[in-house]
Amino acid sequence: MEFKLVNSSVNHDVLVVPCFENEDNKEFDFLLKELSSKNIFSCKKCTSYRYDKFENGKFLNVMFLGLGKKDNLDYEILYKSIVSSFKSFKFDRNSQVLINIFETKNLSKQSVLKSFVLAISACEYSFTKYFTKDKKENTVVINLLGEEDLKEALKESINIKDSLNLTRDLVNEPANVLTPEEFSKRCVEATKDLNIETFVYDEKWIEENNLHALYSVGKASVNKPKFIVMKYFGDKDSEKTLSLVGKGLTYDSGGYSIKSSDGMVTMKCDMGGAGAVLGAMTLIAKQNLKINVYGIIPTCENLINGNGFKPGDVINSLSGKTIEIISTDAEGRLVLADGVYYAADKLNTDMIIDIATLTGACGVALGTKYAAVVDNNKSIFDILEEGSKETVESIWRLPADPEYIELLKSDVADLKNLGGRYGGTITAGLFVGEFIKNKPWGHIDIAYVAWNDFPSKIFPKKGATGAGVELLYNFCKKISKK
Ligand code: BES
Ligand code: ZN
Ligand code: ZN
Repeated sequence: MEFKLVNSSVNHDVLVVPCFENEDNKEFDFLLKELSSKNIFSCKKCTSYRYDKFENGKFLNVMFLGLGKKDNLDYEILYKSIVSSFKSFKFDRNSQVLINIFETKNLSKQSVLKSFVLAISACEYSFTKYFTKDKKENTVVINLLGEEDLKEALKESINIKDSLNLTRDLVNEPANVLTPEEFSKRCVEATKDLNIETFVYDEKWIEENNLHALYSVGKASVNKPKFIVMKYFGDKDSEKTLSLVGKGLTYDSGGYSIKSSDGMVTMKCDMGGAGAVLGAMTLIAKQNLKINVYGIIPTCENLINGNGFKPGDVINSLSGKTIEIISTDAEGRLVLADGVYYAADKLNTDMIIDIATLTGACGVALGTKYAAVVDNNKSIFDILEEGSKETVESIWRLPADPEYIELLKSDVADLKNLGGRYGGTITAGLFVGEFIKNKPWGHIDIAYVAWNDFPSKIFPKKGATGAGVELLYNFCKKISKK
């Protein structure tokens, strides 16, 4: 599928007509009033109506795209409306689609264009590499009707789409293929033509450099852990850096605190945070943001063998803090502990955002639409939230009450890796917060938004959604120099 900017109405066989409630629509007014009076279609959001019209010797497929009341339209309503009408739409091969890019008082043409590109490409996304039957190439062209001033927005939207798809492909990739080593190769591959330096450290380095927590989680697998550091320095006038740290469990069986068979099926998604970091890094570099960013990925597999770490063990960490293991299934916070401490101490970074498929409790607290944020600095949350409004990602701030840190006190070590039954998403976040050396920090738990067990209104496919990519990118965009 190709997205193009056109400044005059090109030859097309599908015409998308955005329709608002109680607004005149010149060419189609008569038909729309008729459809409305018969209660067939009345321009309500997330509805559509299609018909074929015979014109100039050929059929033109017209799609009325219901968007509700014009003044109520926001990014999410537009995006969901596009998804709901495009998800079941089967384009003919070589279809030429024409969409008129409009604006409203709340939404710029740029946002409208982005919404069409991302919503349509979400409908088109599929992970088909393991089907053995012929896969058809998608040759549809989406022509976006607009002026030159949309050129930059189109370029950015296409870059966002590509990075989202990169992340989705990685998260969908089965764990027998996407091992820590393979993941590190994909990071190198995805960044090699960009202004990003990528370093991959192996198990020996991890051990010698005291990343004990990452080492302990990964040591029961024959697929050895890796520690990946990507460096993008886009602001030569500044020494300030931001670090994005992503949980990269290419598989989480739970270890000796083993998961149920059902709970294990989708655990190839447990590198969703790391996938989001890689996606965001490629996007930041392609868009040349004026900012210095490290992308840090501790990656390993949480399995079982005669050498695995066990409940009751006391392990060390890069920070020197000791940790009593209560559950080997609470492994994400352990690898993140070393990841964020590496950023804070070894890289002396100025700000840290970590992102992870960290807790099942997150789904219990917030459902499958919202990611949870725990932070030590409200303005980090505010910037993340402001950025989220220009995407279909939703976040919610949980209380990082210091009282809850008490729940992580151990009888035998500095900390334990489980805070008990209540507030599991908060205590998991606060655990990571013990390793940031008091730097400004935000933690994003995407456990229930990175993976769709069922298609949702936002991402109409099962499997990896690409959650976190835009959230991280918009955050960087907002704090970068113009
Ligand atoms: N990777 C899981 C969290 C998860 C659960 C991600 C469901 C996606 C969907 C994490 O490592 C984990 O197992 N967490 C435990 C923590 C518990 C032991 C405190 C959980 O949520 O059950
Ligand atoms: Zn786990
Ligand atoms: Zn996990």
